Amino acid sequence: MDFSQKILVWYAENKRDLPWRQTKDPYKIWLSEVILQQTRIAQGIPYYERFVNAFPTVFDLADAAEQEVLKLWQGLGYYSRARNMLVSAKQVVTEFNGEFPKTYDDLIKLKGVGDYTASAIASICFGELQPVVDGNVYRVLSRYFGVDLPINSSQGITYFKKLAKKVMSKQNICDYNQGLMEFGAVQCTPKNPSCSNCVFNSSCTALQSSKVSELPIKLKKTKIKKRHFNYLVFIDNQKNTIFQQRTGPGIWHNLYEFPLLETKRELKSLTTDAATQLNAQLHVNKIRLHNKVPIVHKLSHQHLYTKFWVVETDSELREGIQFEDLVAYPMPVLIDKFIRTFKF
Ligand code: ADE
Repeated sequence: MDFSQKILVWYAENKRDLPWRQTKDPYKIWLSEVILQQTRIAQGIPYYERFVNAFPTVFDLADAAEQEVLKLWQGLGYYSRARNMLVSAKQVVTEFNGEFPKTYDDLIKLKGVGDYTASAIASICFGELQPVVDGNVYRVLSRYFGVDLPINSSQGITYFKKLAKKVMSKQNICDYNQGLMEFGAVQCTPKNPSCSNCVFNSSCTALQSSKVSELPIKLKKTKIKKRHFNYLVFIDNQKNTIFQQRTGPGIWHNLYEFPLLETKRELKSLTTDAATQLNAQLHVNKIRLHNKVPIVHKLSHQHLYTKFWVVETDSELREGIQFEDLVAYPMPVLIDKFIRTFKF
């Protein structure tokens, strides 16, 4: 048996029963694949189910408000993926007459759909011969074939895509692609892979040369940026607060947060002046620091050192929002955690 046949046999014996494996509806496969780019299978299942329940068809999603989509996506990160999904759903309705595209070449025209997602949908739903290359696939191929090119270099990306094409199954690309990803997720894991009971243990290059733990090679990413965030939690006598949408480029576009004061260094005290700069007409009664030790919120390229400052005012907060109504808005997990624990 060659590489692809062994993957197919392994998959037939080991595949997990997952909600999106009961369907070939490209809309649902698309949802599942976009979610799975963001998270592991166990965490992804409830998100998938909530999306399918809220928007059973691409028409339902195309009609949705962005805020609703962002709320359902809350916690997965990379919120541009959710915004792009909404744009893509509208594209399917308007440019493709509501019929989800069936080929790699058409799928890749959808906003946010790249090589991985287009290959996954085209192969899983329509049997098109396109190999998928995700993090699992990089790991399995680099170990089995002993490839030490960095998987995040342009040379590496081109090489692995060619290799993936060369060794893919031409008979059953649908199960092969899913099987290869599943094999990476379950058997050939990043740490402590199960080499002793592996179907490839006599032919895996990395195992033969004791390089399993060294592969795949990934170039170090750019330095993590440290940022200092100060959220101003205004509270008036009616228990209203200010919650506003983040606009502009950068993280959390269109999500909601408290007024933000970003500083170069950790802010040790917040003056009334600084607070009123963010809200000019305000009369400040009291400022209280909620957390002395900054909460560190880690994103892929930046760490946010965050303090919440509670600013009490007896001015009326016009356009203020009741504290208990905040949960309905899409917001970063950092803010969600705060409003769930904050008592006033
Ligand atoms: N990870 C992402 N997509 C997957 C799929 N379709 N099967 C298994 N693992 C996956």
